[in-house]
Amino acid sequence: MATPRATFIAGATLLAVFAIPAPAAETPRDHGDYLFRAAGCGGCHTDEKNHGPALAGGPAIKTPRGTFYGPNISPDPAHGLGRWREVDFIRAMREGVRPDGAHYYPSFPYASYTRLTDDDLRALWAYLRRQPPVAQPNRPHDLPWYLRPRSLLSTWKALYFTPGAWQPRPDKDETWNRGAYLVEAVTHCGECHTPRDALGGPRRALHLAGTRDGPDDSVVPNITPDRKTGIGRWRKSEIVEYLASGMTPEGDFAGDVMAEIIDRSTSRLTAADREAIATYLLSLPPVEHATRKEKQKPAPGRDEFGF
Ligand code: HEC
Ligand code: HEC
Repeated sequence: MATPRATFIAGATLLAVFAIPAPAAETPRDHGDYLFRAAGCGGCHTDEKNHGPALAGGPAIKTPRGTFYGPNISPDPAHGLGRWREVDFIRAMREGVRPDGAHYYPSFPYASYTRLTDDDLRALWAYLRRQPPVAQPNRPHDLPWYLRPRSLLSTWKALYFTPGAWQPRPDKDETWNRGAYLVEAVTHCGECHTPRDALGGPRRALHLAGTRDGPDDSVVPNITPDRKTGIGRWRKSEIVEYLASGMTPEGDFAGDVMAEIIDRSTSRLTAADREAIATYLLSLPPVEHATRKEKQKPAPGRDEFGF
C-alpha cells in the first residue's frame, strides 16, 4: 500500500541508492586533505573499487593511447615516495619530471597540476607524508612499444605543456579567480572535457567543449556556455546542484566517470567553491561543439530505475 510515509521511504531509499551521497559527512582535517579530495588524487592512486590500500596504486586508466596505472604514492621507501624530498614532489607536479629526470606521461594530469600554487603543493605533500606507507609494487603501464620510451615525452611537452602556477587575473573578481583556479588547476575538468588531438594534446580552440573519446569510452559533454551544444541553458544554481548531488536540471543523475568525480571531489567542496566553479564556467566563451547522440529513451514498460 502506498501510504505517504511508504512513498517517502521508497523515495528516500531510491535517493540513497542512486544519488551520489550528499556532501561528505567527514570533514577534511586540513587544507592538504581538502586539496587531495578536490584534486581527486585517490581516484588514480587508490584502487577504491577493490578496496585497495590508500595511495598504494590505482585502477587501470584506459586511454586511446594505452592503459596506465597510477603508481604507489604512499610514503613507503621501496615502492612509494618514502625517499622523496619536498622538492622532488614539487618538481614532479610542476614540471612533470621524475627525480631521475625522466618525463611523466600526461595521463598523470600534471599539465593541470602545474598551475597549483607553491603553498598548495606543499600542503598536498604534507598530507601525503602523513599517510601510512604501503609496501605494494607498481604495475607497469600497458603501452604499445612505440610509446614506451619516455624520451618521446619531451616532444609532447614542447608542444602542449606550459609549466607554472596559475596567475590570477586582476581584472576579475575573487569568485571568478577562485573558480578559474579550481577548474584549470585543482579539479582539472579539462583533462576529460577538452578533446585531444592524435598526439594526445589538448585542442585549445575546443577548451572544455567535450569529446566522444573520454576515459573508459565515455562521451564527455561540452561544458562551455553554448546554448545548443553546451550548458548555456543551465542556471548557475543548476550547475552548483549538479556538482553537489549529481542531479541534472532534467532530474537525471550524472553517470559514468562524472559520478565518480562528483562523489570524490566536487560534492566535498565548500558551497562557495562550487559556486565559484559555476561562475567561471558560465563566463567562458561559448564554443559550439556537439558530442552527444540523442538521449536514449528507456525501453517501454520499464523506467530508468528498473522497477
Ligand atoms: C587521472 C589520473 C591521475 C590523477 C587524478 C592523479 N594522478 Fe598521480 N599519476 C598518475 C599516473 C598515471 C602516474 C604515472 C605517470 C608515469 O608513469 O609517467 C602518476 C604519477 C604520480 C607521481 C609520481 C610517482 C612516481 O613514482 O614517480 C606523483 C608524485 C603523483 N602522481 C601524485 C599525484 C597527486 C598528489 C595527485 C592529486 C593532486 C595525483 N597524482 C592525481 C595518474 C593520476
Ligand atoms: C574523469 C573525467 C571527467 C572529469 C575530470 C570531469 N568530468 Fe564532467 N563529465 C564527465 C562525463 C563522462 C560526463 C557525462 C556524464 C553523464 O553522461 O551522465 C560529464 C558531465 C558533466 C556535466 C553535465 C553536462 C551535461 O550537459 O549533462 C557537467 C556540468 C560537468 N561534467 C562539469 C564538470 C566539471 C565542472 C568538472 C571539474 C570540476 C568536471 N566535469 C570534471 C567526465 C569528467
